[in-house]
Amino acid sequence: MDDRRVHPGFRGRRTLFPPGRPGAGNGLDPVAVGRAGRNRELIGSREIHLHFLWLNGGPVPSVPREFLPLLSPRLRGEAAALKSSARRAEFIWSRLLLCRLLSFHLRRKMSGLRFQRGAKGKPFPQGTKLQFNLSHTEGLVACSLAWRPVGIDVENGAARKRDRTDWKAVARRAFNPRERDFIHSLPVKSRSAGFFKLFALKEAYLKALGTGLGRSLRELPVPLPLRERIRLKGWEFFIPPLPRKNFYAAHAVKRAGAPLRVHCRHWDEADFLEDLRRLKESAGSQRAAPFSAGTL
Ligand SMILES: CC(C)(COP(=O)(O)OP(=O)(O)OC[C@H]1O[C@@H](n2cnc3c(N)ncnc32)[C@H](O)[C@@H]1OP(=O)(O)O)[C@@H](O)C(=O)NCCC(=O)NCCS
Repeated sequence: MDDRRVHPGFRGRRTLFPPGRPGAGNGLDPVAVGRAGRNRELIGSREIHLHFLWLNGGPVPSVPREFLPLLSPRLRGEAAALKSSARRAEFIWSRLLLCRLLSFHLRRKMSGLRFQRGAKGKPFPQGTKLQFNLSHTEGLVACSLAWRPVGIDVENGAARKRDRTDWKAVARRAFNPRERDFIHSLPVKSRSAGFFKLFALKEAYLKALGTGLGRSLRELPVPLPLRERIRLKGWEFFIPPLPRKNFYAAHAVKRAGAPLRVHCRHWDEADFLEDLRRLKESAGSQRAAPFSAGTL
């Protein structure tokens, strides 16, 4: 694990993935946006906002109790019902991130946000067409927001190695023969990275579809080879580069008529907690600046 935790260059910094930027591979090379106005935080109809919250303590740092009242009693109740402390902490971190973002975009108090589930269990915020998806893995929470169906998945390859997940066995279960051949065609040292990216891509697709998480990943073929930006029928996939070794992310979104733009922002735990502290001090006003000054 990179002990700089989050690469300093990524701390609180926004990156923009413009579609088809000339000379930039598949248009996914991150470009610092620099100082953008506050409006940049608002989500356009053809935009996707990806937020990555990097957690420093391991395996899953618990959330300081002072921040729990920012969540609705219902979410706190759902968290309290989770038996595993790691699972509970992941749940709380992910809801703090989600509610913080929704509170800003919907101009509502964090603790006033309500959620419902689709027929197959996909959660949605009530009273808006804005959609989101969450994913958590040891050390990282990710949230995607857009006005269209989205799915995100993050994986920590080092944690899977530690808990002795046999990725080759998972590949046999989750990948079709063509996908397995693709992994085998990669140089030996790139195979596990290839596996995690493909796995994350399929999970993100499954989550975007909203057809239920029990569906077999095998039934969801994705175009190969893997690239940072992939199109498939009505869907578009991104494999954003992450600043920490052994972490992988993939994102799926329903396509629009015109190209989509992906905005990507990385938070470290300290910055995020500082932002929540400011919010608390401003009595939870949803009009408070969304994030610490200087990060836009
Ligand atoms: C259920 C499954 C997605 C769990 O995967 P996961 O990596 O733990 O899940 P993620 O963190 O990416 O996503 C979970 C979030 O998706 C959202 N979600 C829940 N139901 C959903 C649905 N039907 N559709 C879309 N999103 C859904 C929720 O916000 C959920 O967060 P919560 O659990 O805190 O409520 C399932 O596909 C699975 O168990 N996959 C295997 C994971 C695995 O083997 N990993 C090892 C790889 S080597």
